[in-house]
Amino acid sequence: MMKPERLDKLLSNLGYGVRKDVAYWIRRGWITIDGARATSPAQKVLADQVRLEGAELDHPHGLTIIYHKPLGAVCSRKEDGQLIYEDFPARWIDRKPPLSSIGRLDKDTSGLLIITDDGLLNHQLTSPKKHISKTYAVTLDNPLKGNEKELFASGKLLLEADDRPCLPAELTVINETQATLVLLEGRYHQVRRMFAATGNHVTSLTRTHIGALSLAETGLEPGAYTTTTSEKLMKLVTGE
Ligand code: URA
Repeated sequence: MMKPERLDKLLSNLGYGVRKDVAYWIRRGWITIDGARATSPAQKVLADQVRLEGAELDHPHGLTIIYHKPLGAVCSRKEDGQLIYEDFPARWIDRKPPLSSIGRLDKDTSGLLIITDDGLLNHQLTSPKKHISKTYAVTLDNPLKGNEKELFASGKLLLEADDRPCLPAELTVINETQATLVLLEGRYHQVRRMFAATGNHVTSLTRTHIGALSLAETGLEPGAYTTTTSEKLMKLVTGE
């Protein structure tokens, strides 16, 4: 059950503006509660009762995004350069609780990215104990040597600067320089570092699946997104 909360806090947590803005909108008569003009920023309301300039509020009960991250964009909210958040409505970056990427992708990696304000969903999708796989399409600089499949599956590959070996990962070779790799964890630059450990270099990397959710099936072009709920997303990912 949702609890009533202060109108100004509700709108500022959804990224609409600071509390002063809300007071101004109330004076102008732009906010209604169950069809009646709002009277005070301190008024206790339920999100579903509120309209701003006649429109329902923007995802007041949580926001989960399925996104096709393009090459060149960074998952951080503060770095210089192109941010993934530029592909979304501007107010989303100011939401509280904040949105965060589940299993970030590097600037030079494209593909399927889930962004959510649901901490539990984030945990469920990233914890290795939950066994949610992430599948990557990899292109390499040099031909595969032939021992990579066994090495990655061994659970013994210790990457530089890590204190425990990678969990077993499944490599499927497509040709000499192309493969898919399925991981059950998400360490920093993991795919690139795994191939670097074999003396190779990744030239192109795309995340194609998170669990059963396939980027191709979403039909999303680079930079495009769709929104969903945590429950629906979990069904898509687990294939249930
Ligand atoms: N592995 C990488 O090296 N980079 C990513 O973005 C994701 C997995």
